[in-house]
Amino acid sequence: MTIPRKRTAILVSGRGSNMTALLSAAADPAYPAEIALVVSNVPGAPALDKAAAAGIATATVDHRAHAGRRAFEEALDTVLRDKGVELVCLAGFMRLLTPWFVERWHDRLLNIHPALLPAFKGLDTHARALAEGCKIHGATVHVVRAEMDAGPIVAQGAVAVLDGDTEDTLAARVLAVEHAIYPRALALVASGAAQIDGMRVRIRDGASTSPDPLLVPAG
Ligand code: GRF
Repeated sequence: MTIPRKRTAILVSGRGSNMTALLSAAADPAYPAEIALVVSNVPGAPALDKAAAAGIATATVDHRAHAGRRAFEEALDTVLRDKGVELVCLAGFMRLLTPWFVERWHDRLLNIHPALLPAFKGLDTHARALAEGCKIHGATVHVVRAEMDAGPIVAQGAVAVLDGDTEDTLAARVLAVEHAIYPRALALVASGAAQIDGMRVRIRDGASTSPDPLLVPAG
């Protein structure tokens, strides 16, 4: 029996390493999402070439070419709907989305954030975790709500913060966690195993992808 795969778009602005992790997972025909489209708001973003090299359709919707956020988001929404997209993953997409767009994709829009939410919303998460003396840091995949870096948490992964860590060494270990948890989280949502109940996401019994939080050992 062929399981219908959810048509998924990935929105990017830069290098696209999380996008690459999602593309790799979705290369397996048994994965519950297929990547139908990669969209960048930045013309020439490196992620676009990587997606094209993997045989994935790409599009650019340049926010600077639109008169305001709403016009940009309407253009983006049209590109997604024209491709029959059902789920959207933000992966290093550096634009804040308005409540209008977030509501149009309610419960169908995921984001990855390089911190253990609700701690360290916003930018410079690794430097802030070091400055606060955190012993554990990590990454979160969540369903997007109108408030920035907030919404029901689908998956988190953690790393130990080491005495010798710099922003760069910590960022590199967290990035490896991001690449592990985003494909798992998308699988849970695309397969319907993740059930959203307020701020809680419960995983249906028998889901083949483990919902356990990832704790990645140091070193
Ligand atoms: C990642 O750290 C992601 O969590 C954050 O932006 C970065 C994007 O990296 N939102 P990449 O483009 O996926 O390599």
